[in-house]
Amino acid sequence: MMLEAPQRFESYGAVTIYDLVKVLELDASNRRSFHGIVTIDDEVFNDIAANTAIIVPIKDEELFTLEGVISAIPHGSLVIIVSASSREPVDRYRHELDLAKIIHQTTRRGILVLHQKDQAWIEALADTPLELMLEGESVRSGKGEGMLLGVIAAAALGYRYVGFIDSDNYVPGAVHEYARIYYAGFHLLETEYPMVRIKWPFKGKLASSDMYLRRRGRVSRITNRILNTALSRIRKVETDIIKTGNSGEHALSVKLALSIKWASGYAVEPYQLVYLLEECFIKAGKGECPSLPHHVKILQAEARNPHIHAEKGDEHINSMIAKSLGTIYYSSLADDRVKAEIMETLEQYSTGLKPVPPRIYDPRGIDPVKVFSSFMAASNESILYEEG
Ligand code: GDD
Repeated sequence: MMLEAPQRFESYGAVTIYDLVKVLELDASNRRSFHGIVTIDDEVFNDIAANTAIIVPIKDEELFTLEGVISAIPHGSLVIIVSASSREPVDRYRHELDLAKIIHQTTRRGILVLHQKDQAWIEALADTPLELMLEGESVRSGKGEGMLLGVIAAAALGYRYVGFIDSDNYVPGAVHEYARIYYAGFHLLETEYPMVRIKWPFKGKLASSDMYLRRRGRVSRITNRILNTALSRIRKVETDIIKTGNSGEHALSVKLALSIKWASGYAVEPYQLVYLLEECFIKAGKGECPSLPHHVKILQAEARNPHIHAEKGDEHINSMIAKSLGTIYYSSLADDRVKAEIMETLEQYSTGLKPVPPRIYDPRGIDPVKVFSSFMAASNESILYEEG
């Protein structure tokens, strides 16, 4: 892979955010890096892949799409499917388990499949810092919650890095590129606290008959604008550094993942930035910044493949906007003017739409091995297929 070298950056306290770099060539193995350009060799990819688990959250998606996603994740990385799919009237989770079994039998790749609503989580998470995730018979619904369960599993199994890839991606080539961008980012950032966030070049929804390729997502462009406004107002220097506020496709070290707080549902991605900026920048050394005295380094990279995924409708988009902007509205990044801009923006999208305060989970102090082994011991419906 050949990428623009991450050079231009802005620092906010102990958070270094690199300006967007583009993938220049998907395959440039064994070519030399030169000024402004970096190439990553296959040996580096293979080494990092073996230390990375790719977490795939899924809730009632098409099985063929999930199959395409798994097929595109490099063999060396463990796939962790965290499902919230329905069990009745049709047991969709059973189909996901069957698919994973067939894939493993054929390819021998490593796959872990678990369900977010498995009752085995109750005992595993009770009396831990993540007890708040429990509700009724199991874990609360939400993409962020599913992602965090995947992180615990990856940590327990000894992985150094985790990357997230949505299961509703129709283009396996895009999935493959995302994974390789994660590996490249971890290699280039040379820190124990890396984060890699992907911006797709175009985005489209497959369900629409007249597909239109957007340069910017309907939610991300708003989140990016408000985050940039907030940062500009705090620093009194205008910035447009944030280009991946809602990046569903992102990756980070397990060390970083377990030392930050997480937000529920779709607030998860913007809240990572909000949390780090609050703790490592606004609170200036008095916060909970996990990396001190070092920096958290955030690489933003633009992929080549378009991001083509399932259509979920306007109501879904509006709710994501309210949750994303809620992370900023209820943070110390937002002054009165930013709050007013958030309210105006929400009003434009749907009358009566309000910023949603994020529900926050704090995994710090959790023992992933204890939680995961307790979960696996009690679960009748999870399966770990080891590679080979
Ligand atoms: N385990 C689990 N639990 N998975 C879930 C849940 C849940 O409660 N809710 C959704 N998912 C899965 C979906 O099946 C899909 O694979 C993925 O999470 C993303 O959910 P979508 O509902 O398809 O999200 P989206 O496509 O509208 O938005 C995506 O892109 C945004 C940025 O453009 C998400 O990744 C957002 O988080 C992201 O901000």
